[in-house]
Amino acid sequence: MAVERVGVAFEPELLREFDGLIRAKGYASRSEALRDLARRAIIESETAQKDAPVIGALTILYDHEVRGITSRLLELQHRHAEVLSTMHLHVSERACLEVLVVRGRSNGVRALADRIRALRGVKHGELVLTRV
Ligand code: NI
Repeated sequence: MAVERVGVAFEPELLREFDGLIRAKGYASRSEALRDLARRAIIESETAQKDAPVIGALTILYDHEVRGITSRLLELQHRHAEVLSTMHLHVSERACLEVLVVRGRSNGVRALADRIRALRGVKHGELVLTRV
């Protein structure tokens, strides 16, 4: 792949911190780290557009002993075609971890994730999206 070289000016303090981060994360070079940051910023910006086609995963941790939580979760998943697949792990006596693979338009997927996170009993939820 052809590459174009660019010069980037850093303040010394920022460069020192960035080099520390690059080492800690195990990047082979500053260039690879900068390319990675650029790709991430582009994906974030694209998946933020409400009509963008996206795919990703919503990971939630919830307490299955909260009354009605299991059926409300199932109902939402059945009603929303964005949910392609789920994986469920029984983490402890009360805690369940569920990973929902989702695909659709950015706004639809985000709205569904918001509704699931808002359910009583859902303790934590993170949505990770990328472009299709
Ligand atoms: Ni469980």
